[in-house]
Amino acid sequence: MNFKLLLQHFTRELSGLYDHEEAAAILNIVTRQVSGFDRGKLLLKSSESVPEGDLTLFNSFLTELKTGKPVQYVLGETVFYGLPFKVSPSVLIPRPETEELVEWVLDTVDVTGMSGLQILDVGTGSGCIAVCLKKNLGAAGVFALDVSKDCLLIAATNATLNEADIIFIEADIRNYSDARKFDVIVSNPPYITMDEKQAMHENVLTHEPHLALFVSNEDPLVFYRAVADFALSNLSSEGLLFFEINEYLGKETLKMLHDKSFIDTELRKDMQGKDRMIRCRLKASE
Ligand SMILES: C[S@@+](CC[C@H](N)C(=O)[O-])C[C@H]1O[C@@H](n2cnc3c(N)ncnc32)[C@H](O)[C@@H]1O
Repeated sequence: MNFKLLLQHFTRELSGLYDHEEAAAILNIVTRQVSGFDRGKLLLKSSESVPEGDLTLFNSFLTELKTGKPVQYVLGETVFYGLPFKVSPSVLIPRPETEELVEWVLDTVDVTGMSGLQILDVGTGSGCIAVCLKKNLGAAGVFALDVSKDCLLIAATNATLNEADIIFIEADIRNYSDARKFDVIVSNPPYITMDEKQAMHENVLTHEPHLALFVSNEDPLVFYRAVADFALSNLSSEGLLFFEINEYLGKETLKMLHDKSFIDTELRKDMQGKDRMIRCRLKASE
């Protein structure tokens, strides 16, 4: 079988789950891992035979993909902000909008030029935010907190993989206290309501960790309040708080932050034009 036929085979076998474009994109990702070449090289090699050993691997990955398992879990890895990350079904697959949050933190920190920066990532999951911040702000002390031991094990693997020195904390942010002060607290906590859950893609629901995703309809800001309360006592005087947010709850999240006396609140849209991120800071104490 040549690579062109392999593409046809993939798109046909996955047609119940993914359209042609999506299946081709998945094959590109799988090919990078199995054969080590990118999309351009795959096109150039379209008439070449797929080596027998590689074909066996392609077919075993295809069998798993047909169950609806996301390609990142099938391969056990992904790329986030240009860095490699291991992922397992106990961690959320890092999303492109979270890369935009990382970018915003890095832009802000560069501008303000803080030194000896202390950063806390709440709900670290795969460790994607914490690792990227540490890689780009070498001198900063970076802490990463999650309630899930399994997440922290993957996050620690990713810190080692990327040679990023991070201090991990296993805790529930709803009842966590700490004497340390942080200059930046960043969080992408669970924010999808049970109502929104109904409309979600089946493969996210079946394969991604619900602990990372869902909150009740009654109290969708539960984690935002917990992180904000922690920030009230643990942000340094010039410190900044960054959130990734539910696109439908921008106004409510801003109000909650104003009510808690955070100032300079800024709501940003993601690349898809959805309300997605907030940055704010503490009112300086008199
Ligand atoms: C939306 S995921 C974000 C993962 C990662 N930071 C990212 O951006 O891809 C939310 C994370 O919050 C963690 N989490 C859920 N409840 C928590 C709690 N009570 N305290 C601390 N972390 C919690 C989950 O385990 C999950 O890793």
